[in-house]
Amino acid sequence: MRLVAGRQLKEIFRAFHARDELAFRRAALEIVEEEQAKHHNALARDLHKLLVAGAGSVDTASTIVVPAPPKDREGEWDLGEVREAERLLEDLILHKTVVASLESVVEEVRQWPTLDAAGVPRRQRLLLQGPPGCGKTTAAEAVAAELGRPFLIVRLDAVVSSYLGETASNLRRILDYSNQAPFVVLFDEFDALGRSRNDASEHGEMKRVVTAFLQMTDRYRGPSLLLAATNHPSLLDEALWRRFDEVVTFGLPTVHQLRQVLRLRLKSVAHKGIEIDSYASALNGLPHAAAEKLIIDARRSALLRNSTTVEGQDVEKVLPRITSRPW
Ligand SMILES: Nc1ncnc2c1ncn2[C@@H]1O[C@H](COP(=O)(O)OP(=O)(O)O)[C@@H](O)[C@H]1O
Ligand SMILES: [Mg+2]
Repeated sequence: MRLVAGRQLKEIFRAFHARDELAFRRAALEIVEEEQAKHHNALARDLHKLLVAGAGSVDTASTIVVPAPPKDREGEWDLGEVREAERLLEDLILHKTVVASLESVVEEVRQWPTLDAAGVPRRQRLLLQGPPGCGKTTAAEAVAAELGRPFLIVRLDAVVSSYLGETASNLRRILDYSNQAPFVVLFDEFDALGRSRNDASEHGEMKRVVTAFLQMTDRYRGPSLLLAATNHPSLLDEALWRRFDEVVTFGLPTVHQLRQVLRLRLKSVAHKGIEIDSYASALNGLPHAAAEKLIIDARRSALLRNSTTVEGQDVEKVLPRITSRPW
């Protein structure tokens, strides 16, 4: 047995006595990351699996024991929400360059200790951009799941305040909180950041707040990975988004990818007479979310006619609603 993990082992024992799950997870993750950095890949993978499987096998609410996320100044709104990340990258149909980027980030986060030791900067602040319904939010959750880290979703509607200076303080509160444990933090629908509740000139305001965010996180070297997602990359000018360590661009699916989403979502569902090819063509130009919703709605339609088997008639019934609604 190696001695290097001595500090973390002591921490784990201490955490056990203190019933401090947060400290336990932090130390356990450090051990996994350290083993990974030493290229003890099999051991790191097994330890990681044990940590994640342990979490998944018990009631979610009782497993994430981290301090409650901060509230705004009036103590009225939670500024974030911590969730157990459940979905994995394999639940998503993504372009292979997107998968490669996300996997490289996951791998890199595991190896932060190696980068730190060599003085090579981490990529710690990423922007996910692309049209709605193409998997940005889910991919962020999947990154958390792959890393076995709790997933902190920042509630931007609560963070953005119409009081002068209060938005920045709220961002500061969230960043302080994300210093306390190794989260994957998602600033979702990031472009909403500057849209204060009763401000008509929202564009300039947004830039100001996004700039403040970038300044505040420029030197962030805490334990968390910071992700921001936007449906409207054009709202951020190039100078702003270039300041992220990495930009991952999600795109609308090809018909082939729509077919794959349909197949994936039908995998655990009894079905017959589903013409996947023709439904995929009918969905051409729509996001992945549309293909997923087609199957969910078709299942509902089947259940409402007392059948657990989804048939062509169910899909055809709901298809016009899917193709005519905004996405
Ligand atoms: N690439 C994808 N592959 C499979 N399902 C997807 C994909 N993108 C989105 N979905 C499904 O569509 C829904 C919305 O996705 P979401 O991640 O919220 O998209 P976005 O954040 O880009 O708007 C989710 O329930 C997700 O399962
Ligand atoms: Mg989203």
